[in-house]
Amino acid sequence: MSSNLERQANAEPVSAAPSHVPNHVAFIMDGNGRWASSRGLPRTEGHRQGLEALRKIIRHAALRGVGIVTIYSFSTENWSRPEPEVRFLMGLLRRFVQRDLSELHRENIRIRIIGERDNLDAGILKLLLDAEELTRNNTGMELVVAFNYGARQELTAAVKKLCEKVARGEIEPSAISESHISAELDTVGLPDPDLIVRTSGELRLSNFLLWQAAYTEFYFSDLMWPDFDEAALDQALECFGNRDRRYGGVTAQAL
Ligand code: IPE
Ligand code: IPE
Ligand code: MG
Repeated sequence: MSSNLERQANAEPVSAAPSHVPNHVAFIMDGNGRWASSRGLPRTEGHRQGLEALRKIIRHAALRGVGIVTIYSFSTENWSRPEPEVRFLMGLLRRFVQRDLSELHRENIRIRIIGERDNLDAGILKLLLDAEELTRNNTGMELVVAFNYGARQELTAAVKKLCEKVARGEIEPSAISESHISAELDTVGLPDPDLIVRTSGELRLSNFLLWQAAYTEFYFSDLMWPDFDEAALDQALECFGNRDRRYGGVTAQAL
């Protein structure tokens, strides 16, 4: 059986800069646990190595001219994991912000957090809000951290907010358009992802950006996230450059 990578064709390893770089790339950073288990290590070690991969990928994406990087760091469903793993992941996020924030700020990176904020540990919430505040006026790459994020929960909250507006008489139900829905999502103002990359060979969205991914290109890598490096990202970007995005229409050449 061919691997996901092989099935995606034209995915020759590249060393030069990819020709057409997507503006917004979102990553489903999957496979930390399996990376560790296959080495006889605890799952937490996979998460630790996954953070090192993330550091490299953020810098490389910025170098390649990607405008926005979104990372799926913790889903609303990840609370169902064993409590020590959840605690470790929370600690890791805390350390990431504490250790990397000043450097990200120096690199002119703007941080934005998406996901549910209710019921979060107050200390973590403050750290995240402070990171957003510190980097608010930066003009370089935007780093969107999807933390405690679930697309269905995001859409449900948006529906509630719209219903409240209807109940207050601020909007007629018949006037509700796609842009009204987009405006109530955590991602308000962000362009939709051009490319979603998922590692570890899993072929699903796992409740990530369901509304925003309507016309996103997908790239699946068999690499476990801790092994996803600069060359792997270049390969994904190169593959994206060869896609024909038709948005329901026909290609210019076919006309
Ligand atoms: C991704 O790796 C990290 C998070 C979901 C937080 P996993 O922990 O899901 O690793 P696998 O999929 O079990 O290998
Ligand atoms: C998706 O990975 C969530 C994150 C990467 C944060 P999961 O490992 O939680 O997804 P499933 O359970 O395999 O669908
Ligand atoms: Mg997983």
